[in-house]
Amino acid sequence: MLRARIAGTGMCVPDRVVTNADMTQWMDTTDEWIQQRTGIRERRWVEPGQGPRDLAQGATLAALEDAGLDVSNVDCILLATLSAQHDFPGTSFFLHEAIDAGDIPCIDLRAQCSGFLYALQMADALIVARRYHRVLVVGCEVHSTGLDISTEGRDISVIFGDGAGAVLLEGSEAEDGPGLLEVRVHAEGKHARKLWTESPSSAEPSRLTHEMIDDRRIFPVMDGRFVFKHAVTRMPEVLLETLSAASVKLEDIDLFLFHQANLRINEFVASKLNIPESKIMNNIQRLGNCSAGALPILLAEASRGGRLEPGQLVSLTAFGSGFTWGSAVIRWG
Ligand code: UT7
Repeated sequence: MLRARIAGTGMCVPDRVVTNADMTQWMDTTDEWIQQRTGIRERRWVEPGQGPRDLAQGATLAALEDAGLDVSNVDCILLATLSAQHDFPGTSFFLHEAIDAGDIPCIDLRAQCSGFLYALQMADALIVARRYHRVLVVGCEVHSTGLDISTEGRDISVIFGDGAGAVLLEGSEAEDGPGLLEVRVHAEGKHARKLWTESPSSAEPSRLTHEMIDDRRIFPVMDGRFVFKHAVTRMPEVLLETLSAASVKLEDIDLFLFHQANLRINEFVASKLNIPESKIMNNIQRLGNCSAGALPILLAEASRGGRLEPGQLVSLTAFGSGFTWGSAVIRWG
């Protein structure tokens, strides 16, 4: 049976640490509010001159090294992001250039915080259909250059961090061997405006105007409580759906990785499903919410930190703008 297995993981976050104390210089907030409501202590933001391409490149090279392979072994690149290097054509093409990927195809995929899982599902389908043998999946985000860091944008700006993670997936024939057992993804477009950046917009007579900037419509906005409520409903739902589709029991999962949007969301999901803390890993305290980058970064940290042994089962679950949500279950090795 052909399965997509993870041959290598990698991550890259900027060196610049932005603490909650730093936030208080720009907006009316406190370390106490941010930690209590979100669990975040600090996040990484890019330095001037550093962009999505650089983070995606760092994560990719680390994943290739981990797999013991080089770029000539990659057949296709899928890159999930909501914060493109350039809106047109995106980020993956600049990553392609940076790693000298010859003429292999690359695709930008937009499913926000669930982007990594959407990309994983597509990579899996491409591998199992024998279209490509090795697919590089990258989740990459630079939020910091597009945030309203005044008091007006404080609810959303304190949660976002910059970072990229990558995995190299390859076809593996071993009977009952390691690899992706199941990925399920969903969307509900009627809630798209609950967490979005309205402008620039190609639906407007002029895509970007001074008025959009003056009205601050170029910054992301969120109905936080509404998003929270949906996240804590959809995440357990899709996690259980995915395990059931893979015929895996909840108690057989060795490690649960959740999207890193808010530590309180993850605590809520864990308590709803009775998952012990010892089976959960979070890094939001150090890195904030890196959207599409969050899960592959966490996976790279789990792999490198000795949290995953061959044969173990890992469950990944996310929820985000769109709305989008999804879950995957992987047998490690
Ligand atoms: O990654 C994509 C998915 N995103 C998420 O899943 C995020 C989901 N939402 C959340 O995590 C939470 O809604 C937030 C952490 C973003 C906000 O927490 P909240 O408990 O929902 O706060 P709120 O927006 O309802 O605001 C409560 C109060 C307000 O003040 P008043 O109106 O009660 O006086 C806000 O103005 O907290 C105020 N507030 C802040 N105060 C200090 C909002 N942001 C801040 C801040 N510092 N940074």
